[in-house]
Amino acid sequence: MPTTGHVFIATSLDGFIARPDGSLDWLLSRDDPAEDHGYDAFIATMDCIVMGRGTFDSVLQFPEWHYALPVFVLSQTLATVPDGLHGKVTPIDLSPADTMRRLSEMGHRRAYIDGGQVIQSFLRDGLIRDMTITTAPVLLGAGRPLFGSLPKDIPLIHETTRAFPSGLVQSTWRIA
Ligand SMILES: NC(=O)c1ccc[n+]([C@@H]2O[C@H](COP(=O)([O-])OP(=O)(O)OC[C@H]3O[C@@H](n4cnc5c(N)ncnc54)[C@H](OP(=O)(O)O)[C@@H]3O)[C@@H](O)[C@H]2O)c1
Repeated sequence: MPTTGHVFIATSLDGFIARPDGSLDWLLSRDDPAEDHGYDAFIATMDCIVMGRGTFDSVLQFPEWHYALPVFVLSQTLATVPDGLHGKVTPIDLSPADTMRRLSEMGHRRAYIDGGQVIQSFLRDGLIRDMTITTAPVLLGAGRPLFGSLPKDIPLIHETTRAFPSGLVQSTWRIA
């Protein structure tokens, strides 16, 4: 059975997932721990995580490794993983389609796809099934974009939208 790709990500209202230098202060400052934005429920339905090297570099800055699932880092430059992450992180240098084929062979059915450039390339190749996008009430003006150019339209089907007291608005879209 083919592996399906699923996105769960937060953006500014103008569509950036990080500032140009990668910082997430605009998002973390709005993350009210009293609100359940559904990350735990989402991750419980995934078998593995595929992230770009940019996102991997970013999560390495956090004090602890917080992924229980196997993580595959898409990169043409990452040769080795840091000490302590062996068995948890696997570098992978394949196209999006070949990555999904490899994951399928390994028995992973549902992959959480993370990182702006990586999401864009998986969308272009028709490998994303749905996207849950949490929009933060802020305009950044510049940053790392979630979306980019496409060879053709990707029609979407709206599934749900919910608004949180913090001002975060979360919508789920299925690729038609
Ligand atoms: N707001 C949020 O919810 C959220 C979520 C995730 C990440 N982020 C932030 O987003 C930033 C990272 O995102 P990003 O868009 O800059 O980078 P990214 O998508 O995480 O990583 C891009 C890198 O992945 C590698 N790569 C390998 N195959 C690729 C392919 N098929 N398509 C695209 N990239 C491929 C390339 O690195 P090589 O040169 O090594 O090959 C490329 O430079 C970080 O600052 C992170 O904190 C925010």
